[in-house]
Amino acid sequence: MKKEKKTLIIGITGGTGSGKSTVCKSIKESIPEENIAIIEQDAYYKDQSHLSFEERLKTNYDHPLAFDNKLLIKHLDMLCNGETIEKPIYDYELHTRNLEETITTEAKDIIIVEGIMILEDEELRNKLDIKIYVDTEDDLRILRRIQRDIKERGRTVDSVIDQYLTTVKPAHDQFIEPYKKYADIIIPEGGQNEVAIDMVIARIKTQLH
Ligand code: ADP
Ligand code: C5P
Ligand code: MG
Repeated sequence: MKKEKKTLIIGITGGTGSGKSTVCKSIKESIPEENIAIIEQDAYYKDQSHLSFEERLKTNYDHPLAFDNKLLIKHLDMLCNGETIEKPIYDYELHTRNLEETITTEAKDIIIVEGIMILEDEELRNKLDIKIYVDTEDDLRILRRIQRDIKERGRTVDSVIDQYLTTVKPAHDQFIEPYKKYADIIIPEGGQNEVAIDMVIARIKTQLH
């Protein structure tokens, strides 16, 4: 089924712990379900089910090559064409894709693509109508990440700190922060910036009416 109205694609990026996922959640809560779909770049981490758990622990999850952006772009194109996709489900504790289940996601008027490296990939960047960078200071991001990863992703303080110093921080400086220049809008502090979030919601509502 060909869509009559052009899909509005909003990209939300920023470093780990900046509040991207929280911002998306706030936006989604204010828009009717039938109008909006969230596509997390994390869902498109490459499948690693062929590797042992020990081997998966060695993967650098903060490198552009860790993502299957080809599939992500294909799915975005399908959604813009009015087609339904089977969005992968990612398991942060097992470090791989869930091969048994997917989330059936229908085409919607508004699509939010959210993830750490969506501006770094030129092809993906060019698909985004509005590019938002959630900008939160490094110390707050690592503190938030420690708490979140222990609570929700099965990690220890030592493992989060070690990963942060070896791969997360260098990748932020190389693949995330430099691409802030491509953003149309910068949201300071992320999650609870109600003024900025309300402005994005207002823009979405304009598109819908
Ligand atoms: P990201 O997706 O950018 O990594 P999240 O949205 O998952 O970031 O936020 C990381 C953690 O910080 C989460 O536990 C979230 O609840 C918390 N958080 C997000 N925004 C704020 C905020 N403004 N103040 C305090 N904690 C926040
Ligand atoms: O939500 P957030 O932006 O923090 O998600 C991206 C982060 O998830 C990356 O910085 C990466 O280090 C982390 N990650 C992880 N283990 C995985 C996959 C991603 O720690 N298996
Ligand atoms: Mg997130």
